[in-house]
Amino acid sequence: MSTAISPTAYNYKVVRQFAIMTVVWGILGMGLGVFIASQLVWPQLNLDLPWTSFGRLRPLHTNLVIFAFGGCALFGTSYYVVQRTCQTRLISDSMAAFTFWGWQAVIVGALITLPMGFTTTKEYAELEWPLAILLAIVWVTYALVFFGTIVKRKTKHIYVGNWFYGAFIVVTAMLHIVNHISLPVSLFKSYSAYAGATDAMIQWWYGHNAVGFFLTTGFLGMMYYFVPKQAERPIYSYRLSIVHFWALITLYIWAGPHHLHYTALPDWAQSLGMVMSIILLAPSWGGMINGMMTLSGAWHKLRTDPILRFLVVSLAFYGMSTFEGPMMAIKTVNSLSHYTDWTIGHVHAGALGWVAMISIGAVYHMIPKLYGRQQMHSVGLINAHFWLATIGTVLYIASMWVNGITQGLMWRAINDDGTLTYSFVEALQASHPGFIVRALGGAFFASGMLLMAYNVYRTVRAANPVEAEEATKIVVAGAH
Ligand code: HEM
Ligand code: HEM
Repeated sequence: MSTAISPTAYNYKVVRQFAIMTVVWGILGMGLGVFIASQLVWPQLNLDLPWTSFGRLRPLHTNLVIFAFGGCALFGTSYYVVQRTCQTRLISDSMAAFTFWGWQAVIVGALITLPMGFTTTKEYAELEWPLAILLAIVWVTYALVFFGTIVKRKTKHIYVGNWFYGAFIVVTAMLHIVNHISLPVSLFKSYSAYAGATDAMIQWWYGHNAVGFFLTTGFLGMMYYFVPKQAERPIYSYRLSIVHFWALITLYIWAGPHHLHYTALPDWAQSLGMVMSIILLAPSWGGMINGMMTLSGAWHKLRTDPILRFLVVSLAFYGMSTFEGPMMAIKTVNSLSHYTDWTIGHVHAGALGWVAMISIGAVYHMIPKLYGRQQMHSVGLINAHFWLATIGTVLYIASMWVNGITQGLMWRAINDDGTLTYSFVEALQASHPGFIVRALGGAFFASGMLLMAYNVYRTVRAANPVEAEEATKIVVAGAH
């Protein structure tokens, strides 16, 4: 296919910034994960200080890994993918720069306010109103940059990856704004506009779709670009990808009540959430199969390409966690799993196995291209990282399954006279070995991120400014 170099260039500056910060926040967020996991093994690590207590650092961990690490990966890759698949530059450099600095400001705000104890108390929506407003402004600007770039595209059709990124951007804005409606009473305290069971339902409509649209749909956008690119194969079925898209976004939005089984929420709403969650297995697996089958004829590449391995293993974990999720949404299963470490294991099968692995694969794919290099500084280090991440994830989730089922069974065991067989502390003691294995698994995963930082640093440092500049040129009519 003939190619011509267009005089215009992609805005890679903002993509590079987000890609580097993905690694930085990944190390901090996962490092903190290892720290709070260790607090559950050695409570002395709470240091008897309010700022370093588990209760305050846990939401900091979730904010750093989801919004800082995951968010930077999503911003960076979406800006990269939308430019390359639309063969045009982002509509505005200054607006894109604002999204980068604004997003970092929100995260720094979280780093300061959460350990100080300022929180709305809503999970994954803890940031108090001044930061929530800044986040909303950044997000709307992001939407303008992304959709504006799609409008001025040079290609005829809109590549399916952009559909997924687009849905993730629109729905995240809706969720964030609706869930955060509240009455401020001081600079750092506000009260939700909703009350009682309504508040709980709005919160878990938000919470579940934060999983469905932030941690899933956005990363599926990533999957639809980076898996075919790295495998050098077209996506297995374009038609399946369209069905996958519409089925996924139609179903996800209804599944929130599975977080509120056996609560004051009306029973019909709980059952509806359960049924929708079970149906959700179909589009989730449709997407997973579409990604996996893209490797048809390219499976041998897995032997030599650790980046492809990251991407494929992430799909395997995606398939696993989206099988486990619908099972846990069944009320009788949930009566065992809820409140236990089983939920934590499920979360991290998705978070480490799917979200983190696909982001890591995408960043390894992008970095050399962003800096005009042939490949990363060391393929061997990527391989070592892959094994640390895979072993770390398996240790984490296997220990949490064992803990979760042990806890669930011990809590519900009853003697003949109706008294509890085990005290809570006995169940906690039984969980201790699992906590140690989880902390070890987390340490494996986090140390892999340090190898990545070194590898990225060496690749970026070796970049030649002329080649890096050349890399931004828009190549028209070639494959994206
Ligand atoms: C078809 C897909 C999925 C379904 C139906 C599903 C279902 C569930 C269920 C039933 C729970 C337990 C709720 C409870 O007992 O409180 C749960 C928790 C959770 N899931 Fe999933 N899941 C799915 C996929 C995923 C994926 C791919 C991820 C991550 C990337 C994920 C992240 C989470 C998180 C973070 C929680 C914990 C929420 C909390 O209590 O704080 N889920 N999910
Ligand atoms: C080195 C890696 C990691 C370690 C060691 C780790 C550790 C932990 C620990 C100890 C908790 C608290 C569990 C509890 O309350 O019993 C937690 C919660 C959580 N983590 Fe991680 N984590 C890691 C990576 C990640 C990543 C990459 C993500 C997301 C992309 C993530 C998302 C979450 C979420 C959503 C929760 C709250 C779960 C819930 O409320 O059900 N974690 N993590």
